Amino acid sequence: MNELPTLIWFFLPAGIANMAPVLVARLPVLNRPIDAGRKFRGRAILGPHKTWRGLVFGVAAACILVYFQMLCYPRPNGQTLVNYESVNILWLGFLLGLGALGGDILKSFFKRRLNIPSGRPWVPFDQIDWILGAAILSQFVVRLSLGELLTAVIFFGLLHPIVNLVGYFIGLKPNKF
Ligand code: CTP
Ligand code: MG
Repeated sequence: MNELPTLIWFFLPAGIANMAPVLVARLPVLNRPIDAGRKFRGRAILGPHKTWRGLVFGVAAACILVYFQMLCYPRPNGQTLVNYESVNILWLGFLLGLGALGGDILKSFFKRRLNIPSGRPWVPFDQIDWILGAAILSQFVVRLSLGELLTAVIFFGLLHPIVNLVGYFIGLKPNKF
C-alpha cells in the first residue's frame, strides 16, 4: 500500500486539470459546447457547460503538471508511483487530463439523462467524476490496488468541496458546489 502523500502527488495533475476549465472560463477561445447544442431524446446531450476550451485546457494543464513533476523528480522523500524520468510524460499527462475531463463529461451526460440542469449539484458524482476517470485511465501506466484507488477517490472526493468553497469565496466559481 502506497502512502497517501504518494497517491496525492500522482493524481495532482488530474486535480489541476479538473480546476483548469473554471480558471479559463472567461477566455474567448474554443468557447464552443462539445455537444454543439445537440439534443438526445429532447434533452441536451451534455449541456452548454461542457466546452472544448475546458477539455483542451484541462488536458494541457495535466501535461504541464506532469512535466513539472519530472523536473522535481525525485521529490524529497523519493517515493513516487512512477519514475518520471522514464515514463512517457505526455502520455501520462494525457491520461490523467483526459481521465479527469472525460469523467466530468461522462457525468454530465448522465446528469442530463436524469434531467438535472447544467450547474445544479449531483452529489457525490460532481465530486468524484474526475478522480474516478483519472484513476481508471492511469491504469495504463501504473497498477494500483483497489484499496489505493478507493483511498484516492474518497480523499479527493472529500477535498473537492473544500477547494470549491475557496474558489467560490475568491470569486472564481459562481456557485458553492
Ligand atoms: N467547463 C468547461 N468545459 C468543460 C468543463 C467545465 O468550460 N469541459 C467550465 C464551465 O464554465 C463550467 C465550469 O467549468 O460551468 C464548471 O464545471 P463543472 O462544475 O464541471 O460543470 P457544471 O457547471 O456543474 O455543469 P454540469 O451540470 O454539466 O456538471
Ligand atoms: Mg459542477
